Amino acid sequence: MAPTPLIAGNWKMNGLLKELGELQTLAEAAGAGLNQGRDILICPPATMLSASFGILGNHVAVGGQDCHSAESGAHTGDISAAMLKDVGARYVIVGHSERRADHGESDELVRAKAEAAMAAGLIAVICIGETEAERDADATIDVLARQLASSLPDDMDGNRVVVAYEPVWAIGTGKTPTADDVRHIHDFIRRTLVERFGDAGNGVRILYGGSVKPGNAAELLAIDNVDGALVGGASLKASDFIAICQASP
Ligand code: G3P
Repeated sequence: MAPTPLIAGNWKMNGLLKELGELQTLAEAAGAGLNQGRDILICPPATMLSASFGILGNHVAVGGQDCHSAESGAHTGDISAAMLKDVGARYVIVGHSERRADHGESDELVRAKAEAAMAAGLIAVICIGETEAERDADATIDVLARQLASSLPDDMDGNRVVVAYEPVWAIGTGKTPTADDVRHIHDFIRRTLVERFGDAGNGVRILYGGSVKPGNAAELLAIDNVDGALVGGASLKASDFIAICQASP
């Protein structure tokens, strides 16, 4: 049986409390049935997590955008998985390409963060994806194979881990891979998950992320082994994000 689709919004470093009205609109749509047959997640900046949870309640899940790999301690400015859980988060994104690039996060660190998230009872959304240079060098599959081998914890199942494929060159650019490329890559990710985790690999949701918009969501979300989307810019406006949710099968 195919996993329940997950439509996730990553607000990145965007959002002030005055923007909470967008979440109110989303909460109302979810309460009216938008969340039937699909899971919906918003990952606002950490400063908005508590207020977002208050508004979205049980209709729409809330998640962090990153967590530290340690449980607690002397890590100024960082947030632990338990802290996210404490304010109502159910998910956390780890290994986003912007974290890998801006903060030099390695596959091994991403894996440690995913393990910390799972230990705290959160679902880890583990991001992988090739850069434009890697794609141009025909290294996409090699890069994804390495990231999957090294960023994923050994102990995993679909209730605790989500994989998000986000080609770096498609993020915020308006460019997307062809449907055939997405099909081919998601099929490769699925096969890799099943080879390593057996049947549990079939239950892991594989999201596509990178310039998902209301206009292309239906085509992307209809592809085999695309179990949802990780949406950046288009998740900031409730009407666009709702349209993307509606496009999921
Ligand atoms: O995590 C979501 C993301 O990186 C995609 O961003 O703005 O291209 O939808 P965007």
